[in-house]
Amino acid sequence: MKGRAVLLALLTAACSDKSGGPREIAGADPARGLEVARKVGCAACHETPGIAWPRGAAGPSLEGFGGRSLIAGRFPNQPDNLVRWVRDAPSMAPETGMPATRITEAEARDVAAWLYTLQ
Ligand code: HEC
Repeated sequence: MKGRAVLLALLTAACSDKSGGPREIAGADPARGLEVARKVGCAACHETPGIAWPRGAAGPSLEGFGGRSLIAGRFPNQPDNLVRWVRDAPSMAPETGMPATRITEAEARDVAAWLYTLQ
């Protein structure tokens, strides 16, 4: 309990202290990211805020993802990791159920910026 409270306090401090902080992705556009997510069909496997249908359940809900500290429970939720994850998760975790998505690096940066808006 106590450890959890401390962790929460640390996370909260980290979040409130980010003018251009660690989760900013230079030049990326969250609105474009949402369009890429629609086009690629992320929602076929993820419940996805901003996409009403489908609401797939093969992967975790993306609601609140911007507030998570880990990607898939094992990688620090930092821009470089997230950009790589949404493009090619199996290159990071060969056993994962999340497929490579064949989007471009620029699209992946937009998608990551959009994911960080999900609070
Ligand atoms: C074929 C199904 C499938 C598709 C399509 C898919 N994902 Fe996933 N995704 C998964 C699964 C399964 C996991 C859980 C992976 C794990 O734990 O190893 C996951 C995990 C994730 C995570 C980590 C979530 C967390 O809470 O840690 C993110 C972020 C993510 N996906 C984003 C996306 C985005 C963005 C797209 C579209 C570009 C997408 N996914 C397309 C199946 C999919």
